[in-house]
Amino acid sequence: MASSSIEIRNLYKIFGSRGKDYVKAVADGMSKTELNAEHGHVLGLKDINITIPGGQITVIMGLSGSGKSTLIRHINRLIDPTSGEIIYDGADICRMSEEELRQFRRKRTAMVFQKFGLLPHRNVLQNAAYGLEIQGVAKGEREERARRWINRVGLEGFDAKYPNQLSGGMQQRVGLARALANDAEILLMDEAYSALDPLIRVDMQTVLLELQKELKKTVVFITHDLDEALRLGDKIAILRDGEIVQQGRAEDIVMNPANDYIESFVKEVNRGRAIRVGAVAQPLTGGEAGPSIDADHSVEDALKVMLSASADRLTVMGPDARPVGTVTRDQLLHIIVM
Ligand SMILES: Nc1ncnc2c1ncn2[C@@H]1O[C@H](COP(=O)(O)OP(=O)(O)OP(=O)(O)O)[C@@H](O)[C@H]1O
Ligand SMILES: [Mg+2]
Repeated sequence: MASSSIEIRNLYKIFGSRGKDYVKAVADGMSKTELNAEHGHVLGLKDINITIPGGQITVIMGLSGSGKSTLIRHINRLIDPTSGEIIYDGADICRMSEEELRQFRRKRTAMVFQKFGLLPHRNVLQNAAYGLEIQGVAKGEREERARRWINRVGLEGFDAKYPNQLSGGMQQRVGLARALANDAEILLMDEAYSALDPLIRVDMQTVLLELQKELKKTVVFITHDLDEALRLGDKIAILRDGEIVQQGRAEDIVMNPANDYIESFVKEVNRGRAIRVGAVAQPLTGGEAGPSIDADHSVEDALKVMLSASADRLTVMGPDARPVGTVTRDQLLHIIVM
């Protein structure tokens, strides 16, 4: 069954006792600075409209204070909106009753936190089983399910260790195992990898991408790191001062930045790694033969294949191993250096 998308429509969040009174002013153009200086209210989110596709990874990116956490916390309604709606599976999350919300949070969403959020006096197994324990799943079953996920995130044999006996990367694996053990369709990850060392962080990105190939969760992943966003995101939305300034695929953002702000972000990006050949492939000409590459590989990967095969053209293969297009060496070099 394909998972539902999350549809966020006209969402505003204004922090302060009379937030609703200022929605119109903000909609009409009052800036975050003005709202704060003149009315002592803080603009959290302004007119957010985004579809978070089911079964894909959507990355929310932006600098500190841009509203990323505010946005993700609306999805399980840890924050109530000032106005707007969030539709999931036919229901508006913003209008759920206490009981509906409790069920929704427990059964359909799971969170992974930056600070891991592990319970220090529980071992790895008990931490990973925690969500299931809350749901009332019996001990034998929850431990079996938790153990399966501990193994899947690469922590086989660590069941009986305590959090303080683990490195940051391993603790984050436990956090991920706990979230996955819940079997929720929506995975909310707020800066989950931001506290990790760069190499461990890349490892964890790989773990997520590998699992996602099979699990196809609806993942909302927050980061302030563009490389991470480009690597993980099927879709990326960039926030600034509570507004989405651009949303699209990695390639849309890197190749067609919407304004100078985004441009300044993407200037330093390694385009050869950020852009996948599937996004730049040209139509098939019919006479395709010779070496090929999968559409989800990067431009850099494609150039390596060309070098080792002494080819100046590759056929790009789609998910069902059928040719979907072609790329040439000159075209790819142009993408990297222009
Ligand atoms: N409970 C609150 N009351 C008042 N203002 C708040 C509250 N929570 C967040 N804000 C403000 O809303 C804006 C967005 O904050 P948010 O925490 O969503 O940013 P962020 O993008 O997650 O930042 P960071 O990268 O530092 O985590 C900021 O200006 C912040 O000060
Ligand atoms: Mg935050």
